[in-house]
Amino acid sequence: MRIVEADEDTLVRYLHLYQGCSIVEKNSMFFLLLKNYMWSLKPCRFKDRLRGELIVLHRTLHDDDAVPRLVRNVCGPQNGLRAPKLNEAATLRDVVDTVTFLARQRDHKVRACLRLANAMHLAGLCPLMCYSFGRWQLSENTTVRQVRELIEFSVMTLYRVAARDSTSDAAERVLINSDGSNSDIYASPDRLRVYKVPKNMAAFEFLSEQEYGIAKFLRSTALAPYVAADYAYDPARRVISHELIEGRTGEHYLLPDTGLTAQQVRSLEVFYYRHRSLYNMVLLDIHPGNFIWNERAACWTLIDLGAIPTIGREYYEHETYSDYLFHIWQQRRHYMAQHPIRSLDFSIDLNV
Ligand SMILES: Nc1ncnc2c1ncn2[C@@H]1O[C@H](COP(=O)(O)OP(=O)(O)O)[C@@H](O)[C@H]1O
Ligand SMILES: [Mg+2]
Repeated sequence: MRIVEADEDTLVRYLHLYQGCSIVEKNSMFFLLLKNYMWSLKPCRFKDRLRGELIVLHRTLHDDDAVPRLVRNVCGPQNGLRAPKLNEAATLRDVVDTVTFLARQRDHKVRACLRLANAMHLAGLCPLMCYSFGRWQLSENTTVRQVRELIEFSVMTLYRVAARDSTSDAAERVLINSDGSNSDIYASPDRLRVYKVPKNMAAFEFLSEQEYGIAKFLRSTALAPYVAADYAYDPARRVISHELIEGRTGEHYLLPDTGLTAQQVRSLEVFYYRHRSLYNMVLLDIHPGNFIWNERAACWTLIDLGAIPTIGREYYEHETYSDYLFHIWQQRRHYMAQHPIRSLDFSIDLNV
C-alpha cells in the first residue's frame, strides 16, 4: 500500500510518467524544485542570482530548453564531473548511483540537486524534490531506502502540477468541494454518496487506487468504525465513491467560539491509539480537516484515507495522544499562521 515499498518496476514506472507531461508541466515542476531549494537559503548573493533565474523560468515555462539553460547558468559546465549517465532505460540502481554521486560532490547542495533534477528531466524521469519540511532530505551517505522515499515524495507531490480533467461524468452530481489538492468532490443529488474525482496526474495514476486499497484494508481493522461506509471504485475513471457524512470537519471545532466536546476528544483518542497500532502498514493524513464529526453516531469519520509520504511522517509522530491533540488540533490555526509552508511551497509564483 505504501509507494516506498513498491517493487522496483512500479517505482521506475512512476518516475517515467513524467514523459506524459507537457513541457509547461515539466518546467513548472522544476520551478517548484528551485523555489523550494531557495527556501533553504538565507538572503545572499547566490539567492539573488537564483531569484533572477526563477523570474526567467517563470516567463519561459513553455520553452523546451528552459531547464537545461537554467542549470548551465547556475552550475556552469560539468567541469569534468562524470556523473553516471541517466537515460530512458534507467533502473532504480542508476538513480541511486546518480543521487549518491552528486550528493558527494564538494558543491553547494542547491547546485548538486539542480544537476540531479536536470539529469532526470533530460532522461524523461520525474526529478527528485530533495528539500522539504525545512531540511535537505539527502546526504553524502544516501541509502537506497532514502532514494525510494525521495521518489515516493516527489511523484506524490510534483505530479500535482499536471492537471487532469475532474468534471463528473454524471451531470446531476453536485460539486461540493473543489479546494482539495488532489481531487474534486461531488455529491449525489440525494446527498447519500460522495464521488472523489482525480484532478491531477498523481491522483489519477496512483493516489486514488492507493486510497481505495487503504479503505478496503481498514474495513478489517480496529479503525473500521472511523471509516465511511460503502466504498466503491471505478477503475476506468479512478473515481472513489462512498457514503456522504453529514456534519462539520474538525476545523470547525477549532474555531475560537466552538471548541471540542469531551465526547469528541475521547473519540479522537481511541482513533489515535488504533491508528498508531497500524502505523507501519499505513500512514494516514490525520489533520482536523480530514475528519467529520458524525452527530448521529457520535464518532469521528476520517473521510480522507489518502496516505502521506514517508518523508514528513514525523509531523504526526507524537509520544502521547495529548501531544497530538495539542500540536495537530489545538495549535493548528496558530501554527498555520506562523509557518505557512509545512512541507512544500506549491505556488507557481515569485514569492520566495
Ligand atoms: N464522505 C464525505 N462526506 C462529506 N463530505 C466529504 C466527504 N468526503 C469529502 N468531503 C468534503 O470534501 C473535502 C475534501 O475531501 P478530501 O477527501 O479531504 O479530499 P483531498 O484529498 O483533496 O484532501 C472534505 O474536507 C469535506 O468537506
Ligand atoms: Mg483532505
